[in-house]
Order: sequence, then C-alpha cells, then structure tokens
Amino acid sequence: MNIQEIIGKKRDGKELSKEEISYFVSKYTDGTITDYQAAALIMAMYINGMNEEETTNLTLEMASSGDILDLSEISNNVIDKHSTGGVGDKITLILLPIIASLGIPVAKMSGRGLSYTGGTVDKLESIPGYRTQIDIRDFINNVKKIGISLIGQTTNLDPADKKMYALRDTINCVESIPLIVSSIMSKKIASGANKIVLDVTVGSGAFMKNKEDAIKLSKMMKKIGEMTERETICVLTNMDEPVGYAIGNTLEVIEVVECLKGNISEDIKEIITTIGSYIIKLSGKNDDLEENKKMILENIENGKAYNKFLELIENQGGDIEYIKCPEKFEKARYILPVIAEEDGYIQELNAEEIGRVSVMLGAGRMKEDDDIDKEVGIILNNKISDKVQKGDILGYVHANDEQKGIQAVEKMKNIYKISEMKIEKEKIILGIV
Ligand code: URA
Repeated sequence: MNIQEIIGKKRDGKELSKEEISYFVSKYTDGTITDYQAAALIMAMYINGMNEEETTNLTLEMASSGDILDLSEISNNVIDKHSTGGVGDKITLILLPIIASLGIPVAKMSGRGLSYTGGTVDKLESIPGYRTQIDIRDFINNVKKIGISLIGQTTNLDPADKKMYALRDTINCVESIPLIVSSIMSKKIASGANKIVLDVTVGSGAFMKNKEDAIKLSKMMKKIGEMTERETICVLTNMDEPVGYAIGNTLEVIEVVECLKGNISEDIKEIITTIGSYIIKLSGKNDDLEENKKMILENIENGKAYNKFLELIENQGGDIEYIKCPEKFEKARYILPVIAEEDGYIQELNAEEIGRVSVMLGAGRMKEDDDIDKEVGIILNNKISDKVQKGDILGYVHANDEQKGIQAVEKMKNIYKISEMKIEKEKIILGIV
C-alpha cells in the first residue's frame, strides 16, 4: 500500500477501504506521510466526500491514534460538551462552571480557533496565568478537587486530529461533513466521556450553513457516538448572527464574567439553558428539562456559578483579580465606533463576515503558528431586528493596528444590513437530534 495510490483512488471518487484509511492515519501521525500528501488526500475527501463507512473508519482510526482516556475514577458517568464552532461562541466558558456548580463533574478539553470561528483555549489563555496545557494526572486531580477542569487537547490525545485540524484550516477544507464528524467524534471518543452533548451550530457563522446539513451532521455524529456506546444528543443552535455581543478573546471573557453575574443576553440564556438541561439529564441528576433550566438560572442568580468560575480560574493558575475586576484587562490601543448611516431595522448581521473581520484584526490565526492578539475584536451594540437611527453607534472595533481598525470599521458598516421593515428574530434553538 502507498499514499500515492490512496490519493489517486479518492481523487477519482472511489471508496477507501478500512486498511487504506488506517494506513493514512497512522503514517500521517508518525510523520511518514508528508503534509503535502495529506493535504492532497484531505482535499480529495473534501471534494468527493466519504460515505458512512469511510467516515466511521476514519473516526475510529483517528480516535485510536493516541491515548484513550479513562475518566472512571472521576465518575462512572462523565459528560462532555462540544460545539461545532461559531463566532462569539463562549457557551462552554459560561455553561460548564454552572454545570460544575450543580455538582456534576466537568472534564473538558477544548480547541483553538478554526478558520473564522473562535476557540475556547485561546479565550482561556487571555486570562493572565491560566494554564491550558497541563498533564492528564493534574487534569483528573483538578476535577476531583473542585469538580471542573478546562484545558487544551493534550499532546497524545488524538494526535491525528491535531495535525489534520491545523492542516484543514490552512488549505480551506474545514466545511465538510465527514471531516467534521471524524474530527469531533474522534476527540470525544478519546477524551473518555461516556455521554456527549453537541452544540451543532447552523447559519452564516457556522460550518453548516443550513438546517438540512446540520441534521445530516448530527445524525452521523449520534450514530458513531452510539456505536461506541456513548449516548449522544445534538442541539441545533442558530448562528446567523454572533452569539452574544462580544467577538474576540479578552472581550469574550469579559462578557462571560458579566453573564455569570446575571447580565446575560437572551440568545445566550436560551442556549445555555437548553444545552445545560440535556447535560443535567444525561448526568442522571434530573430528567425534567424545565426543572433543569430553572436550576441553571438559579445558580447564576445565587452566585454559585460565578464562584465556581473563580475557583476554576484560580485552580489553573489564572489571576482572579482580572475576573473580579475586568477593567484590569489590557485594552486594545484603538477603539473605533461603527456608526449607522441610515434609519431602520437591522436585517442581517453576517456572522462569518464578522468572524473574518475579527481574524483580520488579529483575534484568530491566518497561519497555524500565528500569535493571537488577545485584546482585539468587535463589540456589537445591536443585533438583528433592533431599531437604529442614523448616527447611532452600532458597535465598536477594538484594534491594535490603526489601519486595520479603520479597515474593520468600513467592513462592519457593510456587514450591518439595515432595512425599513422590521424582521422577526429567528428561533435560537432549531432542533434536537
Ligand atoms: N470543531 C472541531 O473540533 N472539528 C471540526 O472539524 C470543526 C469544529
């Protein structure tokens, strides 16, 4: 078997056997297959697709490319949560401390930003001192000690995905159902949880632009989850506009703190209560979804969720003075307003385009080894269906480079589509699979 033949087969639209997929995953992980050969094969997979059997085989091979964690010493019922990605998506940082504050153990490995979407690890690293790279023993001990640990993917957990995830980003091959299924489910299988709740985002700022594709993606992830004896639930959430009001790493952490103090936007409230209610149900704590939603809101109101967040940050080396007093976070040098040029109602606020503006400002990466500019990003003052008047400030661009800031303001003006007619807001929760 050799990689040229495998690339040729997929290039010509043929089905790859289990052995060929296994050969590719193991030889790419150990470095025998080069990045350019892997790029050619991934591009062929992207263009010609993969059937269910190929996708399942790819997922299982990737999952076993490194360690498979055993979290049974934490609990015999560990739940994991993962989002398929979005713009302003800070749900993990808000929801998981709430879940931990309810006594449900949280052991979660997160990813970095991908394409125009942000990543939880980049956001956590904008908190001075916070360590996202700790060894597995410390990770498990942290969960046993305070009920929660949020870290980056460890070196030997799904190393095949680590390489493929970064490569797909640089060759524009992210938006593919089989590649997303295998990336997410291989990590979930390797991370040791036995129950999985997936936030499957749908809309302009998501990799799935329409509900049909999101359902297809969800069904496939659920099937693989169940095949590997992990109960899996997918919650489809609307990503036509960014989640909440902040986009960018430090800016999002500040919004997270506000949410945990009870100042929470309606979209975030709906997403955390819905996804959280399923997490609580799968944990075995309580089956009634409506009661679960109440428990979530209660633990925000009584401060337990915020205190758990402080405990999490402190336990992982972060400086909690920044959380207690977010004004301490360093600000971008230029904070530039985006001004409305007409009266009307906001009709469209394309989340992908906003994500690309924030990457251009430095909040995300153009190349794998780029550094993140923590302070930059965008604050929205208005969202879809809001009424605005000419001269209103629609939002602010936070930039460290003046030229990029000015460019971002121009782009943002074009992203806000304003019309005379009020349009109704779309639903936030689009379905459960
Ligand atoms: N999140 C992942 O972990 N992988 C993908 O491919 C897309 C989103």
